Formats: sequence, structure tokens, C-alpha cells
Amino acid sequence: MTTPLRDRLSIGELAARSGIAHSALRYYEELGLIRAERTAGGRRTYARQTLRRLAFIKAAQTVGLSLEEAREAMADLPAERSPSMDEWRPVATAWQERIDEQIADLQRLRDHLTGCVGCGCLSLGRCALYNPQDIQGAQGPGARRLLPKRER
Ligand code: FES
Repeated sequence: MTTPLRDRLSIGELAARSGIAHSALRYYEELGLIRAERTAGGRRTYARQTLRRLAFIKAAQTVGLSLEEAREAMADLPAERSPSMDEWRPVATAWQERIDEQIADLQRLRDHLTGCVGCGCLSLGRCALYNPQDIQGAQGPGARRLLPKRER
């Protein structure tokens, strides 16, 4: 005899099933990536479908997306069921483009790495490891890394 599936999972069950820490689940909830309901006793419970959203977040992170980007991508997908192929295609296409860009970036980095072998200077002006394609210079003058993010 099998145990019937419950519609709601506790945070412990969700953490165990997804492999994601309680603290991360609470953070995802804070960001609006997943939603919890509270029991009368104030305990969080999650719809079983939340496991699918967490799988999506993990996959998005594997592709290199930020949590904000994952949230944007999930906004275009149905929340309570698996997406159809037509619904999934634009997301997968965007991810494919993202992966292609990352591969191209890594290939460029590899091609410009020769000067770093045995060097160790990590110079802003000439090091492809520390400042590939002079990204810091393109963001403006001065010590970009020392400025608070909002001033960069
Ligand atoms: S470590 Fe010196 S150029 Fe990269």
C-alpha cells in the first residue's frame, strides 16, 4: 500500500525533497520566487508544485541566470502545471543563447590567457583574467571596483 500524496509540504519536507536549505527557501519566498501559506500555528506550508519551481530555479542557476532573471523567466510559465512545449520553447531558446554567449566569453578568455601563464600581475590594464576586454574601463573612469554599486 502506498502513502497518498499530500497537497502541502512543510519547509522541512520541501528542503529534503529539493536539496535546498531552509534558509534559501525562506530567501526565495522573500524574493517572491515561491509562495508559502501559513497554518493556524504560523508554520509555513508549500504547494507540492513548489518542487517544480525549485527545479526550475536550480536549472536557471546552472545556466548562469540570477535569481531575478529566474523570476522573470518563471513569470511567463504557468505556476500550477508543467509548461506546454510552446510555453517552454521561448525560455529554452533564451537559455540556449545565454549558454552560447558564455561559451563564446570563455573561448575569448582562453584565447587571451597566454600572457597570464606565469605572470600573476592581475593588472586592470592588461590582464584578461582580472579584467577581460577591459570591462572596468568601459564602465567609466576611475576606480570602478571601489565605488558603491549605485555609483558605478
Ligand atoms: S596575470 Fe598578468 S596578465 Fe594576467
